[in-house]
Amino acid sequence: MIVLGVESSCDETGLALYDTQRGLLAHALYSQVAMHEQYGGVVPELASRDHIRRAIPLLEQVLEKGGVIPNNIDAIAYTQGPGLAGALLVGASVACSLALALEKPVLGVHHLEGHLLSPLLSRNPPEFPFIALLVSGGHTQLMRVDGVGQYQLLGETLDDAAGEAFDKSAKLLGLGYPGGPAISRMAEFGDPLAYKLPRPMLHSKDLNFSFSGLKTAVLTVVKNHPATICDQDKANIARGFVDAIVDVLTAKCVTALKESGLKRLVIAGGVGANKQLRASLNEVALKRRFKVYYPELEFCTDNGAMIAFAGAMRLQINPDAAQRNYAFNVRPRWPLDELRIA
Ligand code: KG4
Ligand code: ZN
Repeated sequence: MIVLGVESSCDETGLALYDTQRGLLAHALYSQVAMHEQYGGVVPELASRDHIRRAIPLLEQVLEKGGVIPNNIDAIAYTQGPGLAGALLVGASVACSLALALEKPVLGVHHLEGHLLSPLLSRNPPEFPFIALLVSGGHTQLMRVDGVGQYQLLGETLDDAAGEAFDKSAKLLGLGYPGGPAISRMAEFGDPLAYKLPRPMLHSKDLNFSFSGLKTAVLTVVKNHPATICDQDKANIARGFVDAIVDVLTAKCVTALKESGLKRLVIAGGVGANKQLRASLNEVALKRRFKVYYPELEFCTDNGAMIAFAGAMRLQINPDAAQRNYAFNVRPRWPLDELRIA
């Protein structure tokens, strides 16, 4: 079965073809980062308009790269939510109109399920069950995953998401957008002893997170700085921030593994690309004898491959999950625990 995946929930247009027998055939991505950079964040209306411009050329690219003719596509999966309403509507309308024209079934996929399952696309995929840490621009959640569609939320952020904290703190330091990669690069040159920032909820007895206080701590340091912050001092603050957030994420993962008795940890979402987080998790994994799995770097951030894959997994379990009714709606807010395998 060949599934075409369409992702357009935020600022990346991603298309991909996944074959349940041969694996990923092709994927193509257009990132709007350069366009949004000058505004310091994603401008929803500009994002929607750009998805319209990119979707069809990317579709042509994946068909050519994958050597697939449109009629050989068996089903089309698109990100139905959560995300920006206008951006989601573009992907949904492209997917549904294409499905209508080709007379193929179509399926709305949960964006976070795409992220959660993305490590299964790698060369060395984890087996179920596992603990998943989902760390993206909009979400920070710890989940127990027993199979496709079997997700139990163990804890989540009470305020800002990890990626959001990276982006906002980077902005405070004047490091541009998206902040995650920028602050991470800067932190490499920072002195770990220069700024000791708070580790919110590190010792709370649950698996929840809170990052807005950490962002406020960065703001306070910046505000109290007597003069313009030189690059070395920026690097020191970045290092203080990264160390704090990585400590909290690592500690909560360890607690989730301990409490569940599981030995496999999967990291998904954009912040999963973070070098310092990976180093810290790899270190405790060795010490505590668990295994940690990451998606390939290109599938950490938003992409069409994870949507094609999640769609294919759902259809394998339940071929009736797709519909031939081409009216569509999107779900900008869509809690993952409302997701059931039909
Ligand atoms: O998963 P994703 O592409 O989009 C959402 O679904 O939100 O995640 C984007 C987030 C952004 O906040 C970005 O700053 C962060 O992931 N990010 C990183 C890194 N690469 C992306 N954060 C820290 N270190 C990175 N290397
Ligand atoms: Zn995402």
